[in-house]
Parts: sequence; C-alpha cells; structure tokens
Amino acid sequence: MCGIVGFVGRQQAAPVLLQGLSKLEYRGYDSAGIAVFTDKNNITVEKCKGRLKVLEEKVDGGKSIKGEMGIGHTRWATHGEPNYINSHPHVGGTNGSDNVAVVHNGIIENYIDLKKYLQTRGYNFVSDTDTEVVAQLVDYFYQSTNGNSMEAVKKTINKLEGSFALGIMFNNDPEHIYAVRKDSPLIVGLAKIGNFIASDIPAILPYTRNVYLLEDKEIVVLTKDNVAIYNIDGEPIKKEVYIVDWDVSSAEKGGYEHFMFKEIMEQPDAITETISPRIKNGQIVLDDVKLTKEDINNLDKIYIVACGSAYHVGVVGKYIIESQARIPVEVDLASEFRYRSPIITKNTLVVIISQSGETLDTLCALREAKRLGARILSIVNVVGSSIARESDDILYTWAGPEIAVATTKAYSTQLSVVYLLSQYLAQQKGEMTQKDTDELLQNLQLIPAKIQDMLKNCTDIQYLASKFYNAKDIFFIGRSLDYAIGLEGSLKLKEISYIHSEAYAAGELKHGPISLIEDGTLVIALATQPRLYDKLLSNIKEVKARGAVVLAIVQEGMDTASEVADYVITIPKCDPLLAASLAVVPLQLFGYYVAAARGCDVDKPRNLAKSVTVE
Ligand code: AGP
Repeated sequence: MCGIVGFVGRQQAAPVLLQGLSKLEYRGYDSAGIAVFTDKNNITVEKCKGRLKVLEEKVDGGKSIKGEMGIGHTRWATHGEPNYINSHPHVGGTNGSDNVAVVHNGIIENYIDLKKYLQTRGYNFVSDTDTEVVAQLVDYFYQSTNGNSMEAVKKTINKLEGSFALGIMFNNDPEHIYAVRKDSPLIVGLAKIGNFIASDIPAILPYTRNVYLLEDKEIVVLTKDNVAIYNIDGEPIKKEVYIVDWDVSSAEKGGYEHFMFKEIMEQPDAITETISPRIKNGQIVLDDVKLTKEDINNLDKIYIVACGSAYHVGVVGKYIIESQARIPVEVDLASEFRYRSPIITKNTLVVIISQSGETLDTLCALREAKRLGARILSIVNVVGSSIARESDDILYTWAGPEIAVATTKAYSTQLSVVYLLSQYLAQQKGEMTQKDTDELLQNLQLIPAKIQDMLKNCTDIQYLASKFYNAKDIFFIGRSLDYAIGLEGSLKLKEISYIHSEAYAAGELKHGPISLIEDGTLVIALATQPRLYDKLLSNIKEVKARGAVVLAIVQEGMDTASEVADYVITIPKCDPLLAASLAVVPLQLFGYYVAAARGCDVDKPRNLAKSVTVE
C-alpha cells in the first residue's frame, strides 16, 4: 500500500515529512515525493522514483524546501509504472497552473470515466495514474465553486468510486490541509509542534501518541493549531482522542506480532480491492486484457506456470477452468516447464502467476513459452515487475506489499483473479450463462466477509497448534480442489515451522504413503467438496485405523465429520468451487501458530527469500 504523511505546524515541514515517510517504508514502495507550501507562497513538489534516500538527497534532507505545511507520499504502484511522472504528489490545474496538490492511497475504480470527463473540459494529463485524475477533479470543482476548498473536496469525494485516503493542499491556502478516507487507512495526529495526517501510526509516533481514528468519508481540515472534522454533509463531528500504546515495531505490524499475521488479517480487504474493480454491473471486466472472444474460442490449451504457492493457485485453477470453461489446462512448476519441451501452438495461452513478478524460474519459463510462440497472461502483485513487463496481458492482484516470506494475501488475491478469469473464459466460450455467472459472482463477492467472519475467532486453531507444534510429520490429504488446498496448507506449515509435511491426493494413500502413518501421526483431511465428502470420510477411517490423529476441515453442515475425525474445523458454507479461498485460512493460521509456538522466525524463515531471483 502507499504511505501518506501530512504536517502543518510550527517548524519546517520537509524534514518532518521525510521522517514520517521513513517510518512507512515497511509498507513497501517504489517512489516517493513531498509537496510543501513554501515561504515563497506557492506549492513546491519534489519527487522521484526509487528509495526515500534518493528524495532526501534531492532536497538536502528537507533543508532546500522552506515551509511549515506539506504532504508526502511513498507510492506502491497500482495504476502506472513506477517512475517519476507517476509518483506522488500529483498536481491539479489547467494551463500548467498547479492549483492543487494531492497524495492518495487506494484504487479509484472510475478514474477512466472521470479522466474522459475532465479531458472534455480542458484538462490534460501527464501520468497514467488514477491519482492525477483526483487532483484535476479537485481543481475542477475548486474552479466551479469559485475557490471554495471545502466544497471542492466534498464534490470530489462524491464523484469517486473505489478506495481512497487523500491529503490535499491548495496553492492559495497556506494554512489548511484537507484529508479524507474511504476504505483506505488514514489517521490524524495531534502534536505540540503541529498536526498530522498519516496512513499509519508509525509515521507520527516520534511526535505524538494522540490520534483521531477516522471513519469513511469523514473530512479533516488541519491547521497548525486546530483539527476540524466534518461528515460528508459538512456537519462538524466530535471525535475522541485515541492514545496509542504501541511501540514503533509493533505499530509497523498494525499491532500484530508478525507481518504474516497482519497479512492474513488483511485478506478480506485485499480480495475486495482485487475483485471489485473487475465486476461492473454484473459483468466481469478484465482490465485491458486483449484476449478476444475469437482468441478464447480458438484456445487449444492453457498452461499455468508458477512456483511454490503461486503454483498451488494454478492447481486450483486447473480444476476451476476445466470445470467452467472446458479448456484443457496443464499446471507446471516453472523450473520443470522450461526443460520438458512443452507442446505450444499459437492457440496456447500460458498463464504466469507470481507475487513478486521477479521469480527467475518463472521469468525464464515465461521467456521459453514466448519463444515457442505462446500468448502470455500474467497474474502479478508487483506493478512494473519483470514478469509484468514481459507479458502480453497482465491481471494485477491488488494485495498491496506482502512483507512476510510466507505468502497469504497474495495467494488469496491470485485465487480471486483465477476465479474471475475462469468465469470470463467460460462466458466467452458460451459455457456459462449470465445466470450462472451472476450466481458465481455473487458468491465470489461474499468471500471477503466470510473470511472476515473466520478471522474473528482463531482460538480453535490456536488450541490445535498448541497440541501439535512438536509433531515430527504432518500430512495433508484431500481430493480434487481439496488436494490443491492441502498442497498450500502443507507448504505454509513446513516453510515457517520446519516440520516435515506432505500433501497427498487422498485416493493415492493406498498406493504407498499410508505406510508412513504411525500412532499419533497428525493427518489434516480437507473435505470441503460435497460430492467427494463420503470418500474423504473413508480415507479418514483408513488412516485412523493405522493410528493417525485426524483434523478435518469441512463446510458448515457437514456434521458427520465429527463422528470419524478427532478434531473438526468448519468453514462457512460456500460454492465448492470457491472453497479454496476459505479453507486455506485455517491452514495459514495453523502454520502460523505452530511456527510461533516453536519460536521460529515467522516472517523470515531460515534459508528462504521473499523473491527467489536465482535458479
Ligand atoms: C510461498 O509462501 C513461498 N514464499 C514461495 O513458495 C513463493 O510462493 C514462491 O517462491 C513464488 O514466489 P512468487 O509468487 O513471487 O513468484
């Protein structure tokens, strides 16, 4: 996610902004910038691609820009490559006048329509970002209300669709910073030296622990001596001061002990951010994917190629796409794909999945597929990454930066993109009616809330982790989609707890693996698929007969599982095709709690890197 800091007070703003941004670096970013209302009575903007220290050098640690009010930003690219032009702050105004400066965190879903609207009214744009559209829109309403800043902000907010946290300054107003949030975080800091806005608490902790926690669409008007808050109708709101009792380190993790847990908790929002811009009036809108209906109907095969958890998303994708779109799908580990002379024609689509967009095995597989003439569609989290740049089509996940080595929210958002892609392909092929799609999209949009409900109470999983954190071996079994979910559960567990773990297709147990089952061996049985539920119950009986202890993961209503398994975790009822998004959550939590109980370095497991850029 992007980071926002704003300050107006009784000392130079630039150094304060730079320090605040440095406390938000953990959020991940690719460019940074500040705008200061200078003592020359105008707004000066300084920004750059790359690390914050590049900006600090550019402004001599803030000494080269004099002024006591400003806004700052670290950008995590969502729309538009990481570069100077796309970095924030963005300015608004016609004929080169910089009347407004804006910093933004979030995704404006209707920015293209707004951009067209403004272009017909004389506004030009230099960047590819949705944020520049916000800046120009604020200026448009500022002009049309004869310079009424508050009205301009209110009218802008009412036009925006999507998520936003905004910091806004006007070029003829040396005293006020305006701010507002909707679905993106923003707080107000109340300090002796002045007042702040920030995306997150760490940015203001060096100056104050007194904050206002803002609700959606509450408009903040900041001066150095006063903070006024209004609702969207302009009525004043009284807020309680919240005293922050976190230390800086835990504040960077949102108060959680580890980034991994914070990112598990962020999954509902991450999935919402990823799917909602792609569902408009009940139709799937796949950004600017150039695959035509004819291309799709001519597809002879889809390869899904990835590594690790991204590969596990591909295994789920195979079941989903073949079931819905009836297109043959092969899933390949990237490191294997390259060396097995894959059969590729001009009608082959290769779907590349990667959180980092820099995994070398996956990048090399992409290049091999391209050399063989395949069309490349990538599902990537990092905008402008190597894999993104070398693909024909890109579907970004908008999970925000993922800090923990063990992926969670990126995995979940990749899954949600695969669901949308599969339904889109099926519709284009006439394999799904609009009614089918309506129902599936409705179910898909319920997933974030269902995950949110599951995350409200993790005590059962915590208890199970406390019972099994000393296990020597833990096996995951399942059939069909449950097997794919088991693969991810096993990887999550082994990579952060170092416990030996394997995932097996449950039907495969009798062909060898069942010999591994001993007294007390923990077997986690995934049984979320109604049509295979009875078979899984039989598999559970098989392993229990050999001494296993079984934890079953089932959908609500599958009550007979408690008659055969030792422990049962239920997930909310859902369309079986979407079960992976829900069933993976208890498995992520189980791996997390087991690793924490074992005293492992949960966020930075031994021998692992967040992005494996070697072969
Ligand atoms: C997942 O928890 C692991 N960190 C690892 O398997 C990861 O999924 C794999 O290295 C692929 O990374 P990518 O998605 O960035 O390409």
